[in-house]
Amino acid sequence: MDFKNEIAKQIAHAAGLQAEEVLPFLEVPPNAEMGDFAYPCFRLAKVLRQAPNQIAAQLAEKMQDVAFLQKVEAAGPYLNFFVDKSLFSRSVLTKVLQQQADYGKSELGKGKTIVIDYSSPNIAKPFHVGHLRSTVIGNALYQIHQALGYHCVGINHLGDWGTQFGKLIVAYQKWGSKEAVEEQGIQELMRIYVKFHEEAEKDPSLDDEARGWFVKMQNGEEEAIRLWKWFYDISIREFERVYKMLGVSFDAYTGESFYNDKMAPVVEELKEKGLLKESEGAMIVDLEDENMPPCLIIRKDGGTLYATRDITAALYRKKTYNFDKCLYLTALDQNLHFAQWFAVIKKMGYDWYKDLIHVPFGLVSLESGKLSTRHGHVVLMEELLNQSISETSRIIAEKNPNLENKDEVAKQVGIGAVIFNDLYNSRIKDVVFSWERMLNFDGETGPYVQYTHARACSILKKAGNTFAADVDFSLLGDAASTAVCKLLADYPAKIAEAAAKLEPYILTRHLVDLAQAFNKFYHDNPILNSEEATKNARLAVVSAVAIVLKNGLALLGIQAPEQM
Ligand code: ARG
Repeated sequence: MDFKNEIAKQIAHAAGLQAEEVLPFLEVPPNAEMGDFAYPCFRLAKVLRQAPNQIAAQLAEKMQDVAFLQKVEAAGPYLNFFVDKSLFSRSVLTKVLQQQADYGKSELGKGKTIVIDYSSPNIAKPFHVGHLRSTVIGNALYQIHQALGYHCVGINHLGDWGTQFGKLIVAYQKWGSKEAVEEQGIQELMRIYVKFHEEAEKDPSLDDEARGWFVKMQNGEEEAIRLWKWFYDISIREFERVYKMLGVSFDAYTGESFYNDKMAPVVEELKEKGLLKESEGAMIVDLEDENMPPCLIIRKDGGTLYATRDITAALYRKKTYNFDKCLYLTALDQNLHFAQWFAVIKKMGYDWYKDLIHVPFGLVSLESGKLSTRHGHVVLMEELLNQSISETSRIIAEKNPNLENKDEVAKQVGIGAVIFNDLYNSRIKDVVFSWERMLNFDGETGPYVQYTHARACSILKKAGNTFAADVDFSLLGDAASTAVCKLLADYPAKIAEAAAKLEPYILTRHLVDLAQAFNKFYHDNPILNSEEATKNARLAVVSAVAIVLKNGLALLGIQAPEQM
């Protein structure tokens, strides 16, 4: 039984409304003394032509005899509901314990397809912490939508095409060596790329040479493609090491190069629709009526652009997946790029342009200042994750030196901490890396939630991993137990809310709340030393909490070790 739903029905019945009109406004009061749920009657004042206080008093009167409600009270303009605690905990706990790993899943998105374009790093450039956000948020949104029954398609739109690869080829031929690239990988590619820019400042003819090589790539010439493919393979190998650490995978690695032979018909279509205009030798789509600078489609030298490939990719994805929504996860600074080419799709007459959604996020910084990519002082993902793991190992060695699979746990916790830190705030906020804060086992952190889960597992283990099926739910009437049950009950709605807002933090914060409520429950209520029936009922709570924390962490892309 869904109490919130039932209460909405009761209010609707008493006030002569539809339950759907009531449900969205039912609140959970910050303080349980004010009730388990509350309904503000202001919004009925207009319809019923009465003062909110009066309405609250009358509705309270009408609802005295509802079986699952202990009492209904009017408090000023609010209608406060106190549910029958034992019925409530029975309903929630039974459901969690029955559904286990499926608790929280639903069919809300059944029959709908959502394409998620995330991570999408650039070939021959380091996988830096800026791409961490796209990867981690994208993966969480993927898992969350999947739990809601959507068909998800995760796409890594690699930056693997463009004039920069012409530059890289020139740089390699002039200053590179096969051995160095094979040994140093992306780092060496980055070194010669930076060198190219330094040299090109003195000698602009290098840029022409680079453009020439990119034209060769576009024409599929053998030597150009061979070198490009080699840079590609080296880069992918490094990226995949990071994906493996993060536990992230994709349904398709269709990067920008995939669209090389698909752009011509799209450019043709733009022409036919009268959207292409010449401007200083280049081809553009004018966006003046949308109050934006023009979208550049073809460069003066005939080269295509990032936007040309994005437009082509969108048409391809619509045709291939017939998505209901297509999400793009990038930093906020690409806002204009997406707004521009979304407008081009609109001008082409495709009404699904409104299903293209840019999902932006803020910057990442270390405590020492903003991270930069262009000047070589990059913070590499792999280094960062390894550092987190080694810091975590150190903490574990102090706290729990006898832990069995220490290395494995350090990995799960170290990486979990980084992911959690990234998903803790609304996307648009900048993320700051502070080891001290991220790895604080008592803070609002990944390790804290994982630790709480491990604590629950250890209690269950000490109880022999079983408890009797006939739980006496009337023994769970205390405030701490009720608080835990409420958060357990709210968990499925939080998943739906996180998806609707495209904000994983809704879920992250809920897990912190649940962990905190559980620790209070654990502090207030002896478990293993209690008398048999009470112990049994409390173990049911512990077990349900372990299940929900584990399920929730999984949706965020974080593992839940049973010991730590
Ligand atoms: N490669 C781009 C970057 O690193 C991100 C690509 C995002 N996806 C897209 N379809 N534009 O900035």
